[in-house]
Amino acid sequence: MLKSSYPFYLANEAVHANTDLSVHNKYSNEVATKVAMASVADIDKAIAAADEAKDAMKALPAYQRQAILQHCIMRFKERFEELAYALCIEAGKPIKDSRGEVTRLIDTFQIAAEEATRIYGEVMPMDISARAADYQGMWKRVPIGPCSFISPFNFPLNLAAHKIAPAIAAGCPFVLKPASLTPVSALIVGEILAETDLPKGAFSILPCHRQGADLFTTDERLKLLSFTGSPDVGWALKAKAGKKPVVLELGGNAACIVDEGTDLDDAVQRIVFGAYYQSGQSCISVQRIIAHESLYDDLKQRLTSVVKELVSGDPLDENTFIGPMISEKEAQRLHAWIEEAVVGGASVLAGGQRNGAMLEATLMENVEPDMSVSCQEVFGPVAILSSFRDFDTALAEVNNSVFGLQAGIFTKDIYKAYKAWDVLDVGGVVIGDVPSWRVDHMPYGGVKDSGLGREGVRFAIEDMTEMKLMVLRSIS
Ligand code: SIN
Repeated sequence: MLKSSYPFYLANEAVHANTDLSVHNKYSNEVATKVAMASVADIDKAIAAADEAKDAMKALPAYQRQAILQHCIMRFKERFEELAYALCIEAGKPIKDSRGEVTRLIDTFQIAAEEATRIYGEVMPMDISARAADYQGMWKRVPIGPCSFISPFNFPLNLAAHKIAPAIAAGCPFVLKPASLTPVSALIVGEILAETDLPKGAFSILPCHRQGADLFTTDERLKLLSFTGSPDVGWALKAKAGKKPVVLELGGNAACIVDEGTDLDDAVQRIVFGAYYQSGQSCISVQRIIAHESLYDDLKQRLTSVVKELVSGDPLDENTFIGPMISEKEAQRLHAWIEEAVVGGASVLAGGQRNGAMLEATLMENVEPDMSVSCQEVFGPVAILSSFRDFDTALAEVNNSVFGLQAGIFTKDIYKAYKAWDVLDVGGVVIGDVPSWRVDHMPYGGVKDSGLGREGVRFAIEDMTEMKLMVLRSIS
């Protein structure tokens, strides 16, 4: 179902320049298709085209931006299975999760289609003192200009959509670099965007080598950099981005507190999903499970038996829950962290074995806070279990991290819920569910090393627009 090759998109047009990038089926490791790679000269041309398109994009009325987004939604629905298949092959994402991601892609574009028509301003009375008595003010939001986007491998469609769809809604041209490991699904989006009336130059989707991608960060014609990916890369890009604002959606080692009185039938299935779906390759995957001592043993026993039963294998199989990690190298890295923890005294309750890129869903306990599986982002199918007696200690434990993206709290006590919301150093607190919970219109992003700024369409549009004020003196 994949084509034998895919072009890149430069200034809205397909460019079959070469077939330099081989995209592998992440399960079989066979070459699944080939993709054209953009050169530094292509990236430069794309930025020039985006710069030229900025006035036409700014002039596009809201109803036309909405219609473009609606066209995409219609085509995503028509090409639903093709998109899910592409994700499954290029990312190794189990087919059920792949379909879930296409559904979220549609949601994200739908939210953007709605937001496109409600980018409002404000009338601001100016008469706060005698000298301003004859003045009125008003401001509106205007597009920031050409945007630079870099999207990751773990949600190749929806995390690209979180940049593309708000840009169209806001009226900003953009250049996007999809992850080299998973460029195909973003290129299918490019094929669909090329069917629309977007002004020439409004979009370019450019798979390229990271070494040749500096212009995405440094070029001053680009007025915003929005990056989703690893903390190391994200913060390094910010240091090189010059004057442009930067949005960073980075990683975490998300924690989930399970308070006394929690219904474990409900919590266990949510935690297992949050920790292990798409092999834990989500920035908000449950990594640290912090359980009240009264239910620790029961939770441990239930989690262990469910995790041992998770079906792993070919992501195309409808029954598969655990597919491969994105590469054998990543699986080796995480397997080494598990082994290092075991040498340091940690115990493996379930999983722990690796075969190529397939790492078993792994549950551990007796892990010290300074071990990599606890304090670093595992970004894979590993979760660790610890216990607490006092809720405040559990909150402190969640905060004992360089990261702060989302936290999940299973509690029935509204006061504890409020306290968690107040005290936790994270971008979002999910009560009654896992930190991995997300719908696509909510503000999403982290504090500390987890990033800067928020995505979630409306909030991305805020970054992609700036306030423009008019002051009016009454001269009559
Ligand atoms: C992420 O990995 O940051 C995105 C998680 C999601 O969108 O569910």
